[in-house]
Amino acid sequence: MDVDTGVDDACALLLAALHPEIELRAVTCVGGNTDVAQVTRNTLAVLEIAGREDVPVGRGAERPLIERAVHARHVHGDDGMGDLDWVHTDRQPDPRHAVELLRDVLGSAPEPVTLVPTAPMTNVALLARTYPDALRGVGRIVFMGGAAQRGNATASAEFNVFHDPEATAIVLDVAAERGIPVTMYGLDVFYEPKVSRAEARQLVSSGTDATRLAGELVEFQCERFGSDEATIGDAGAVCAVIDPEGIGTTELPVRVELAGTWSRGRTIVDVRDWSGDLDHDPHGRADAMIDVALEIDGRRYADLWLDTIGGTPRG
Ligand code: BDR
Ligand code: CA
Repeated sequence: MDVDTGVDDACALLLAALHPEIELRAVTCVGGNTDVAQVTRNTLAVLEIAGREDVPVGRGAERPLIERAVHARHVHGDDGMGDLDWVHTDRQPDPRHAVELLRDVLGSAPEPVTLVPTAPMTNVALLARTYPDALRGVGRIVFMGGAAQRGNATASAEFNVFHDPEATAIVLDVAAERGIPVTMYGLDVFYEPKVSRAEARQLVSSGTDATRLAGELVEFQCERFGSDEATIGDAGAVCAVIDPEGIGTTELPVRVELAGTWSRGRTIVDVRDWSGDLDHDPHGRADAMIDVALEIDGRRYADLWLDTIGGTPRG
């Protein structure tokens, strides 16, 4: 996983750390919701709470390839993870930079690895440009980002892509060139798996540090947005790896808007009846055909998350 922990990245990490069908090989950190030093601390703390100190954590890019970093503390709290005062760790990250850690993990994996970025794709783009051969180890990319419809960072663009549009463009382009299948878990489905305040309370009182953290993260979001329920957010992308039948995907051409006055960072998802005559790309790049998640059984994913963290995981 590549994360910018992040309240909902923490929800995603807990699921990946605790689900028995996921073999979590490494987590790399990137600046996004907050600065990369804090993202790394948050990530190490979540994995320690989940009892997964065995998972290496790599610190990666501080800022996007071109843009200045724009954090989202107004959404995720001052520490980027809900300002829960009991959550911290003394554990240090792996000495390797995230890009080197990714290279080593992909190079040594016995079978193809699923890459799950739930953050701006700066680290993955740097990997693709620095160690292109490492991508041989990638079997699929399932990323949280983009949208066919509305944005959130702007009216047009979803935060992760908006934060580093060039990085997303590089990753989609390289994946298309190499025939790596990509699933886009974007805003069209992101808000649907929801957990209620009552379910969160039940988690908090379930008695482990992991259930307490999960419940308090949901409660933080309910408070912040004045709602009785909150999305599990990035955790839905991990659900899509464990249980791909919980989403309905359509294979569509996707391009990232790199210019635009009001549309920079938008993922242009071509939903026209497609006959193979795509708009001409002046650079001759391969068309990125992406499995775009447009439908979801939100309750199914919310239950998968609750059951796994509560101790009764389903496949
Ligand atoms: C995405 O941006 C971040 O705020 C969340 O962690 C998620 O990855 C949603 O646009
Ligand atoms: Ca995120």
